[in-house]
Amino acid sequence: MLNFTYCTPTRMIFGQGVISQLPDQLSKYGHKVLLAYGGGSIKRSGLYDKVKELLAGFEVHELADIAPNPKYDPSVLDGVKICKTEGIEVILAVGGGSVLDCSKAIAASAKYDGDPWDLITGKVKAQAALPIIDVMTLAATGSEYDAACVISRTATNDKIGYIDPLLYPRVSFLDPTYTESVNPKHTAAGVADAINHCMEQFFVSPHNSVADGYGETLMKTLMLWGPVALAKPDDYEARAEIMLAAAFACNGITNLGAGQSGWPMHGIEHALSAFYDITHGEGLAIITPRWMKFILCDRTVERFVEYGTQVLGISSELSAYEIANRAIAMTYDFFRDTMHMPMTLREVGIDGSRLDEIAKHIADNEGLDNPNNFYPLTEADIRQILQDCL
Ligand code: NZQ
Ligand code: ZN
Repeated sequence: MLNFTYCTPTRMIFGQGVISQLPDQLSKYGHKVLLAYGGGSIKRSGLYDKVKELLAGFEVHELADIAPNPKYDPSVLDGVKICKTEGIEVILAVGGGSVLDCSKAIAASAKYDGDPWDLITGKVKAQAALPIIDVMTLAATGSEYDAACVISRTATNDKIGYIDPLLYPRVSFLDPTYTESVNPKHTAAGVADAINHCMEQFFVSPHNSVADGYGETLMKTLMLWGPVALAKPDDYEARAEIMLAAAFACNGITNLGAGQSGWPMHGIEHALSAFYDITHGEGLAIITPRWMKFILCDRTVERFVEYGTQVLGISSELSAYEIANRAIAMTYDFFRDTMHMPMTLREVGIDGSRLDEIAKHIADNEGLDNPNNFYPLTEADIRQILQDCL
């Protein structure tokens, strides 16, 4: 087992009606609040009115219309401007991962006098960040329980993961009832994203029973309850199981003491989102079985056996390669037949015309050829995986 440090300093407040605790928690961090939200789902669900009611004693400034795959320009830059001119003390993000990610980038940038892009790209290390509190309305990214945000800059086709412990939310309010209005497309994409977070930390070497056990439980939970939430969107238990699993899928607990993968599927997907603005979880569902097929070999087959037998319940009596190939086919079928997701790039509006350019962009920026990764990928490998996804 490898050495590690593990710390998630976020206070998770979970369950139906917990938002009543929002004023108490918020007042610990300040009085001047930036309320950040997306394109209108919180207004349609009534959550916006509820939050405004709870914020009656606070000075509230708003940043609206944060788009999926949140944009540096205008959203991050607009938010920073409000924070600086109004002297914002705490950011309240109400929405999905995109709203929270945008808020995280704003939080660090608001405390920095230079170009915020320097922080996001890692050129400069942030010295401070505004405190962030969130109310999650979509279970997917795990941003509510991790130190990462992912920001897109349309002009340069960049979609960059920015990680810093300063970005952990101080408090995350997770009320599964708020996710009941998420439509089937985003429910499925969220489940696929959370499953993929487990996979990115599971296909590694070395590995250990504790980390494997966490990841396997989360994957099984998501595969069990995802279809229930699709069939019955207001099933509280299904939404709660998915929300809890998604929160833990991306915060490192499934990778304790284990090796690194380099997050190859995310590296590839982020470029597809950057070039074509597709939904993150849909891109991952398309990439996953193709990546699996590509990396299957004598060195990696043991991980597929563990995944196939422990997560998918495939008989251990079969040969290792039979288990592996069956596991890959079952993964594909789960996304396509059970979660009703698009399973080719063409179905999400991507043709083959820019695959060379995308493969080069990924190879240049994502470090997927790092020899310490479980299965390093060259530019030609990435190009092949993209081709297989078409
Ligand atoms: O914008 P609104 O109107 O709120 O609508 C959103 C959006 O259209 C809607 N939605 C959210 N909650 C809803 C709802 N609709 C009805 N009822 C609700 N309760 O869903 C749509 C998608 O929202 P978004 O926030 O974009 O989805 P998600 O939470 O999946 O976030 C995706 C972003 O997170 C990044 C992705 O790359 C992508 O940019 N990621 C962030 C990570 C992190 N911070 O650790 C890790 C992930 O791997 C991922 O890369
Ligand atoms: Zn993801």
